[in-house]
Amino acid sequence: MFLEVEDLNTFYGASHVLQGVSLTVNEGEIVSLLGRNGMGKSTALKSIMGLVKPKSGKVIFKGKNLAGYPPYKVARAGIAYVPEERRIFPNLSVLDNLAMGVKAGQSKKAQDGDTWTVDRVFHHFPMLKERANSKGSLLSGGEQQMLAIGRSLMGNPELLLVDEPTEGLSPLLVQEVRLSDGQGLHRFRGIGGRA
Ligand SMILES: Nc1ncnc2c1ncn2[C@@H]1O[C@H](COP(=O)(O)OP(=O)(O)OP(=O)(O)O)[C@@H](O)[C@H]1O
Ligand SMILES: [Mg+2]
Repeated sequence: MFLEVEDLNTFYGASHVLQGVSLTVNEGEIVSLLGRNGMGKSTALKSIMGLVKPKSGKVIFKGKNLAGYPPYKVARAGIAYVPEERRIFPNLSVLDNLAMGVKAGQSKKAQDGDTWTVDRVFHHFPMLKERANSKGSLLSGGEQQMLAIGRSLMGNPELLLVDEPTEGLSPLLVQEVRLSDGQGLHRFRGIGGRA
């Protein structure tokens, strides 16, 4: 088992939002969380990422329990998170936004075919290449979503958590940001709302 979430309980104050959530993601698998507004999809992703501290339960990733770890440690363990609001840097160019996704020490890694580079991100999202020098704030919603995903990939995560990957996008753009199982993004394991 790649990711195993066990009996997670998360509160906001007295409000018991996640009540014993368990789920598993196997290697190479894409898992979607579906549910009505306010059901706790985002809270589940935030609890895995350490942005919200679960009161009890386990987040076992590659055999290690990360529950309660701060987000930077969860990121170092190999999990990346694309928030619903995308959080791209509005005053930085597309290229600089992508550079921000590179983790410390990563440049020492061998340049094997599995390492994410700007060129590889552009290969998957050609629309971003055309806007390489545009400021983040000038991108459309769909382009911002592609950039947010591309920036996460630049950190070579092993598991990508994407909240509302297709929110506000046209059907055409949904195809663009879809985590395809055909063309090279397949080695990433996804989990997210409304994929
Ligand atoms: N920071 C917070 N403080 C207090 N309550 C919160 C907070 N964030 C979310 N909630 C509440 O927790 C519940 C779950 O919210 P969450 O954002 O996880 O739902 P969701 O399934 O992602 O919904 P949506 O489909 O609208 O994105 C909701 O009732 C929400 O009002
Ligand atoms: Mg949500």
